[in-house]
Amino acid sequence: APRILSGMQPTSDSLHLGNYLGALVNWVRLQDEFDAYYFVADLHALTVPTDPAVLRERTRKTAAQFIAGGVDPERSAVFCQSHVTEHAELGWVMNCLTADGEARRMTQFKDKVAKGQNANVGLLTYPMLMAADILMYDAAYVPVGEDQRQHLEITRDLAERFNTRFGGGLVVPEPYIVKGAAKIQDLQDPTSKMSKTGSSPKGLIDLMQDPARIAKNIRSAVTDTEAEIRYDVDTKPGVSNLLVIHSILSGTPVADLEASFAGRGYGDLKKEVADVVVAAIEPFQARMHELLDDPAELDRILASGADRAREVARATMARVRDRVGLLPAA
Ligand code: TYM
Repeated sequence: APRILSGMQPTSDSLHLGNYLGALVNWVRLQDEFDAYYFVADLHALTVPTDPAVLRERTRKTAAQFIAGGVDPERSAVFCQSHVTEHAELGWVMNCLTADGEARRMTQFKDKVAKGQNANVGLLTYPMLMAADILMYDAAYVPVGEDQRQHLEITRDLAERFNTRFGGGLVVPEPYIVKGAAKIQDLQDPTSKMSKTGSSPKGLIDLMQDPARIAKNIRSAVTDTEAEIRYDVDTKPGVSNLLVIHSILSGTPVADLEASFAGRGYGDLKKEVADVVVAAIEPFQARMHELLDDPAELDRILASGADRAREVARATMARVRDRVGLLPAA
């Protein structure tokens, strides 16, 4: 089967609903059809200074959440980026293909610098490491949310540049960004994306949060002054966000939801959305507790995932070394 790959950063103890609906749900769906590689982007997380013990803990929790969300480690390789050292190696090759100005023009880097974040060089070269992650596995598709689109574009550019310069060798990947789901918005500020760093506690739905808290946050979601339950991102971003969340989790098309909510109030919508979210989250949390109770089993899964990933990574790096003119190691 063709390969796919995606990753998430271990930058918090809990994934949020945007990570889940924008990415993880698709990871789970795609593992039936593809040879899938899903990893915890721990090297990427080093771009933000974090206490080492905290990083270790978040890395395990992030991996566990992939599995709790439905990734099957028997079918899909689940691993830590840093365990497959070829990622850093190919990242270096990608750095050497990227112009300085090109890296500085990336939106995420510019935004972080504009916000006064103390940017290290890792943050500048973040997209090149991400390109390496993807190109390492000859990934046909990369299931991510909308916020990663620019990173996929530069990955495609770098693959094409490599192929032009060295006569081929890398697969140019396609993004897999599902419309609607690809951008779950902040509940309090529905024109901004839900995010670990940008959202207030009330705007965010963490998958590991107390279900009562989650329901409360949904009940106090910002909507609008009309009274009509209709999908229209431009004029009704809050209501549209709630409809999207409901639709993905309940498997009901948005148009059917609009019909079933005709003549009903926002209170009804919020209550149903809260019910649907909590129903999805409860089994997720139960599975998380099982996984965290057995850290040895989790480490075994990560070790065997890394073994599988390394096999592919070694082959790619041998090809890349040959193409760029590095002598083979004896
Ligand atoms: P990260 O860890 O920020 O986010 C993980 C995934 O969640 C998606 N996402 C969202 N989707 C919908 N609505 C939202 N509000 C929302 N917020 C986040 C992200 O698009 C992502 O799919 N750079 C990546 C990690 C990475 C990676 C890779 C991904 C490193 N190497 C290679 C794919 C392939 C990141 O920071 O994701």
